[in-house]
Amino acid sequence: MHEVKEVGAAELIYEGNSYKYPVIEGSEGERSIRMGSLRADTKLISYDPGYGNTASCISDITFIDGEKGILRHRGYPIDELANNCTFIEVAYLLVHGHLPNQNQLTYFSRLLNRHSLIHEDMRNFFKNYPDHAHPMAILSAMMVSLSSFYPELNVGEGEEMDLTVARLLAKIRTLAALSYKQSEGHPHVYPSSKMTYVENFLNMMFYTPVANYELDPVTVRALNKLLILHADHEQNCSTSAVRLVGSSGANLYASIAAGICALWGPLHGGANQAVIEMLDQIRREGLTIDACIERSKDKDDPFRLMGFGHRVYKSYDPRAKIAKQACEDVLNKLGIKDELLDIAIQLEDRALNDDYFVSRKLYPNVDFYTGITLRAMGIPTNMFTVIFAIGRAPGWIAHWLEQRDDPDQRIGRPRQVYTGPQERKIIPIENRD
Ligand code: CMC
Repeated sequence: MHEVKEVGAAELIYEGNSYKYPVIEGSEGERSIRMGSLRADTKLISYDPGYGNTASCISDITFIDGEKGILRHRGYPIDELANNCTFIEVAYLLVHGHLPNQNQLTYFSRLLNRHSLIHEDMRNFFKNYPDHAHPMAILSAMMVSLSSFYPELNVGEGEEMDLTVARLLAKIRTLAALSYKQSEGHPHVYPSSKMTYVENFLNMMFYTPVANYELDPVTVRALNKLLILHADHEQNCSTSAVRLVGSSGANLYASIAAGICALWGPLHGGANQAVIEMLDQIRREGLTIDACIERSKDKDDPFRLMGFGHRVYKSYDPRAKIAKQACEDVLNKLGIKDELLDIAIQLEDRALNDDYFVSRKLYPNVDFYTGITLRAMGIPTNMFTVIFAIGRAPGWIAHWLEQRDDPDQRIGRPRQVYTGPQERKIIPIENRD
């Protein structure tokens, strides 16, 4: 882990006393006040709902400049990674800090193939879920179940670490595809050592004994790109959940199961499903673009423009730019005309020229266009967030490992400002109102 520089001090004056806290700076110039001793010094704590101003860790993995719309993993811009790498190379980069050379990639790919099966007994679990079970519910439960099937898990360094990482990345993909097959009531398809990571996933999803599945290079390339776009995003809600659970010493599978649950919410990864449901509702009910924009601005109406806005990006999300281009490419190449894309483009145009969205710096985020691309590939809506989870898995693992190796990290344990009743006596039940 790279050290931060101390570049000055911030002074806090409170009740006539002055307290000085070091100002530290990261490699891209972001400054922060190191205030671990604030409470001990002053008895004060900071109140920061949603942690919008709180750095919970020092990290080497991903850099975001939300004002300029920059996203880099280990120094590499997201567009270069999306245009030049496979998802597996990016996964390796996130976990190891450098891109693999050919030998490292071949070795890692072999490990992924070798560990892509899940224990046969685990397949029985799938049978007991109801047909309508959301695949995210199944995936999170299966992820934590892996820790009971692979209790010898030992995330050391070098080969041991590669094995654990490969096992998790390979199995999350297999579990995801099986959860879909189960929801369809179709036989499970095993992974094949003859296919790449993305090809394998598509084949496990769509092959059936009665209809061969022809892999389309357009679909494979697009899915590879979408997975890269999701691979990491520094301290987002699900990654913070993984870190928080991991900080208690919980194992990697349990921590990642927590990440999957956090991702499911519609304000986070669940937004890709929510976007399609919103666009479909607009199409089905014949709502006008103007009416949707007005509703999304009305604070008394729960309707929000899904796929718009971001805690960190105050300009166009760089992932959304790539996702929009990929979406148009896929639809053109597959010769698909999707009314939902037309609605999405109109919504974007209208929102980007509306004062409400402009003044709040609300732009399309990564989820706005990914769902339309996934739809074009034949992926059902309830699998969209599962695909986000497969994509985000390398980021979760990289953060879990980084935290484990960081000597500054302690168990995550925020404080609170209590506003409940002060001490009171219990009234015997017969005397209570
Ligand atoms: N539609 C309408 N108004 C919005 C939207 C939206 N999508 N997003 C934010 N706003 C308004 C919000 O009401 C608030 O207005 P005001 O200042 O008048 O109170 C202002 O913009 C700031 O929003 P916020 O809710 O305080 O921002 P936040 O940083 O807490 O939330 C967000 C960020 C992503 C949860 C939010 O923008 C949102 O709910 N977007 C829709 C869901 C979505 O697309 N999520 C995917 C995020 S990107 C991928 C990922 O993380 O998984």
